[in-house]
This record gives sequence, structure tokens and C-alpha cells, in this order.
Amino acid sequence: MSKYQRVLSLLKNPPLGTGITVKGWVRSIRVGKGVAFIAVNDGSCVTSLQVVLDPGMPGYEEACKIGTGSAVGVEGVLAASPAAGQPVELRAERVTVYGGVDESYPLQKKHHSFEFLRSIAHLRPRANTFGAVFRVRSALSFAIHRFFRERGFVYVHTPIITANDCEGAGELFRVTTLDLADPPRIEGKPDFGRDFFGQATGLAVSGQLEGELLACGLSSIYTFGPTFRAENSNTARHAAEFWMVEPETAFADLADDADLAEDFIRYLCRFALEECAEDMAFFDKQIEPGLIHRIGALADSEFVRMDYTEAIAKLEKASVSFQYPVSWGLDLQTEHERYLTEKVVGGPMFVLNYPKEIKAFYMRQNDDGRTVAAMDLLVPKVGEIIGGSQREERLDLLQARMEQMGIDQAGLSWYLDSRRWGTCPHAGFGLGFERLIMYLTGMENIRDVIPFPRTPGHAEF
Ligand code: 4AD
Ligand code: MG
Repeated sequence: MSKYQRVLSLLKNPPLGTGITVKGWVRSIRVGKGVAFIAVNDGSCVTSLQVVLDPGMPGYEEACKIGTGSAVGVEGVLAASPAAGQPVELRAERVTVYGGVDESYPLQKKHHSFEFLRSIAHLRPRANTFGAVFRVRSALSFAIHRFFRERGFVYVHTPIITANDCEGAGELFRVTTLDLADPPRIEGKPDFGRDFFGQATGLAVSGQLEGELLACGLSSIYTFGPTFRAENSNTARHAAEFWMVEPETAFADLADDADLAEDFIRYLCRFALEECAEDMAFFDKQIEPGLIHRIGALADSEFVRMDYTEAIAKLEKASVSFQYPVSWGLDLQTEHERYLTEKVVGGPMFVLNYPKEIKAFYMRQNDDGRTVAAMDLLVPKVGEIIGGSQREERLDLLQARMEQMGIDQAGLSWYLDSRRWGTCPHAGFGLGFERLIMYLTGMENIRDVIPFPRTPGHAEF
């Protein structure tokens, strides 16, 4: 029984009347009078294959005792199903149990809360919702590569271990081989000069700074990889380990950057609807009624672009009261972002040109002296999904800003070199991959779109 077929291809193109083998996990078993049915799911699609057991089959009695969750192989003949509910069924001739279950198997019932399933994340791949989420995750990863490849972007790999905190938010996880119980010290503090890399290092919070250098040579690049932030925020939208897509384009300004982000999101929406149709229909039915309409409308819509200053004016006029009071200079919180995208615009929107005080050192300074060429893309339900900017390509202005913000220039001399020789205007953005998947599937907690989520207090499996 080594050669077997996947349920998805059997349903797409049923080889009726021929002998086949399927392998998968039992979703349910129903034993009736003179017949038994087993639903076998192999993760290739939401739909389980209906297997029909006839009492004449050798081993019928034992097969009727197979428990939900068992791993099985079924040999038989595929036939059109006489009953409503499924177009085809597999008439079993032989059933092999690879791994049985006992009554302690936690996924006996059909419906479990996502909270409960999170506590058994190692078993979630056997649940319909998570099969669908992880298939969409896989398909969208491919879509990201396809989008950029079609546009001539080069996929680059930036380091995961880094000595720079790109966003400057102090959320770096430390990477060290020093003896934590007794590190070498200098002036009472651990001496990272004697650490593995001869300096303090951490896990990358972004690949942007390195990505910029690659763009200033290859013209258009993107990164897509794991990103780490030790922010202790236990929200439904933050993970300590997530994946980010970061394109960077030379000779581009903020408007070009927003154009690319808009094309990108629309492309990904269309891709999900076309290439993940069955899973999207599942989410529409089980998770968020109207989802397919929402994603379809987005794929055809123009994204609103609004300056930060105007966004603040809109928030100041709002009739609701916010937890964080609104005034110019405020770092928008999720409550403000959602109000803008859900109530003011009713769809996706870019907020552009933020105050320089609330943004990172590398953003290009605008002529007004108080804002930078930053953009965030906000979407209903999720809030910020993309953050990006045009970069400060003028050496003197970049150095002055680093000076003002107290950022060590020696450690970033390699970055400043790109402005010393052959500097050029360039821009890029970062898309949080999990936030995209949440947006596309209607899943409301970031922990439920990551196979093994890392959040404060959780790294057990
Ligand atoms: O806005 P952020 O911090 O921007 C950057 O890191 C830039 N270096 C990107 C660039 O211009 N190349 O992060 C970008 C996106 C956010 O909009 C959000 O979607 C996601 O990354 N993100 C997170 N997703 C999950 N968990 C977290 N803790 C996240 N932090 C940011
Ligand atoms: Mg941001």
C-alpha cells in the first residue's frame, strides 16, 4: 500500500470505477445496519472522502471499531455516490490502521473553541479550520514570490542575527553565548565585546536596512522571512515571531511605494479567491459570513490616501471617545486606526506623512520640517497591515536626524556608506504576513494563523 492518491485530486478528477488507495485521518465514523461510513481527511482540502464499508469486506468488524483520529489507509473502488452530500465515495475493499486512538484523543468532538485548540497546537493541523488556514498560508507565500518575480524583483536573504535594531524600538531578542550565570563584565555590565560576535547582537526586527543596500545595486528587491520582536504586548495582532515581506525599490518615492503596496494587496486578494476557492468558501461559511464579498470588493477598490494631519482632524471630529486622546503628534493606536478605516473611509486606506517624532530615523524628512515621508496601510478589522516609507537618502540630513535621536553612527557606518557613494531616492515597506492571513481568512487572533505561535509566555510547542 505505498502508492496512494490525495483526496483533492480524486474529487477534482474522479477516476470512477478504478481501484485506488487513500491515506489520512478519520474525521468521523458512523456504523449503521449493514453498512458503515468513515470520513477520511488527508489535509489536501477541507472535504473529507466518504468511505463506505460493506459487511462482506474482510475485517469489517474491526474496521467498525476504528476511532475518530486514527491514521488509516483504504484500498477500494471509487464510485458515484447515490446519496446527497458528496459526489463520490470510496467502496472499501481493505482498511489498514496505521495508528489507532483511545478515548483520550482530544479532538473527538466536531467543534472546539480556538482557545482550546491553541492549548493543543501540535494537534491543530487535524482540525478543518487550521487545515484551511495553513493551506491559505502556503498558497499566499507562493503568491508573494510570484507577484515580485513577475515584476523583476530579486528575492534576497537578509541576516537573522544582527547588531542593529532597525526600528529603534528596543525590542531586540538578545543572541549570546556568554555564560548567563557569570558573564565577563565591564563596569559591572556584561562585556559583549567578549561575546561570540565581539559585540552585542540580537534577532532581526526587520531586514530593511540590509534590504536598502541590496536595492541600491539590484534596483528592486524583496525579503520574506522570520522577524522577531520582544514586545511584551499580549494582543490578538502581535506575535514575538512572525513573517514579514519587505520590498525595497530604488528610484522610487512615497507615491510609488503606495502604488506598489496597493497593487500587491489587490493581487493577493485575487489570488486567494481564485486559487484557494474551497478554503475561502469554508471561511465565508464558518468564520466570517460575507468574507468572499469583502475580499472581492477590496481586489477591485482604489485605496484612499489621506495625510496624517487630515486623519487627526477627522479623529478630533469623531463623536466617539478614545482611550488615547487625539491631538497632532499622537502615535495612532489600534482604536484610532480602526475608526479611520472602518468608520471614516469604510475600506483600506493609506495614512501618509507622519510627524517625524513618532517614526524611525531612516524616513525621509519632508520640506515642512515636521513630518516624514511615511505611510501605513490600514484595513478594517485588523488596523495596520503595512508600514513603509521613502528613505532619507541625503547623508547630511540622515546624520543630523541620527544625532538628534541619539543613534550611534559608528555601528551603522555601513548603512551610511550607501549615502556616501551613489546614493539615490528609494522607498519600501513591510507587510506583516500573519496580519494579511488574518485579513484574508477572517481569523481574529494572530495565534490562530501561525502553526506554532510564539507570544509572551508561550514557546512550549
Ligand atoms: O511598521 P513596521 O514596524 O515596519 C518595519 O519594520 C519597516 N522596517 C518595514 C519597511 O519599511 N521595510 O512593521 C511592518 C509590519 C506592520 O505593519 C505589521 O503588519 C507587521 O509588520 N508587524 C507585526 N506583525 C505581527 N506581530 C508583530 N509583533 C508585528 N510587528 C509588526
Ligand atoms: Mg508600523
